Amino acid sequence: MKENRYDDKTFFDKYGQMARSRLGLAGAGEWTCLRALLPDLTGAQVLDLGCGYGWHCKYAAEQGAARVLGTDLSERMLAEAQTRNPDPRVEYRRAAMEDLDFAPESFDLVFSSLALHYVADLAPLMERIAKWLRPGGHLVFSAEHPVYTCRPEQDWWYDEAGNILHFPVDRYFEEGKRTATFLGEQVVKYHRTLTGWLDPVLAAGLTLERVAEPTPPPEMLDIPGMRDELRRPMMLLVRARKPL
Ligand SMILES: C[S@@+](CC[C@H](N)C(=O)[O-])C[C@H]1O[C@@H](n2cnc3c(N)ncnc32)[C@H](O)[C@@H]1O
Repeated sequence: MKENRYDDKTFFDKYGQMARSRLGLAGAGEWTCLRALLPDLTGAQVLDLGCGYGWHCKYAAEQGAARVLGTDLSERMLAEAQTRNPDPRVEYRRAAMEDLDFAPESFDLVFSSLALHYVADLAPLMERIAKWLRPGGHLVFSAEHPVYTCRPEQDWWYDEAGNILHFPVDRYFEEGKRTATFLGEQVVKYHRTLTGWLDPVLAAGLTLERVAEPTPPPEMLDIPGMRDELRRPMMLLVRARKPL
């Protein structure tokens, strides 16, 4: 069964306190890098998998997308999206991404930000995404980086005074379920190696165009904790294209 932590009130409230929840894309350290991976959206049909508050859906509409379908498992997140990021060109729909299906060649862009690490089996989803894309269409996604997901603690190693020493990497090649600690709560995520992320994209017949490991831009480095993001990768960004 798919876990739906974002509908848990405690978890949802804690998520709402994060900079990216309060400030939107301006509070997301990877946004500069992720935005640069997006194709021209003029007139595009866009699908956002795990859209959360809908920041990227709204952005796509503002960039000229003809229609944006934002999908998410969480009723609470979708209610927030309707409130914060409504737009006549954006439809928000409740669904687990593993259960979605569309006609072949329905979208110019399939997008997902920080949601695919909640999916147990990536290969069948990639097969379906490849089917949904028009020839020449793009898949752009971000996910938590394998270095970040390998240990369920998802935390630094500290000295006795509480100073960061380093970020430990362990169980890297042991792909699968992790009951991770996120926002002080337990949440199930799925760790996969770098190969585990990229192989299903290639096996689905998509061409890799860009892979990026973002660091925060200089103007965000004074936000508490942001400088530590220069010490280890937290996210993996991918742009792939369906061949013409
Ligand atoms: C970290 S939030 C990211 C939200 C948004 N994409 C963003 O970047 O602001 C992850 C989102 O993925 C959703 N999610 C988790 N598992 C999902 C699934 N199997 N299908 C659809 N959405 C899912 C959660 O409900 C949550 O809204």
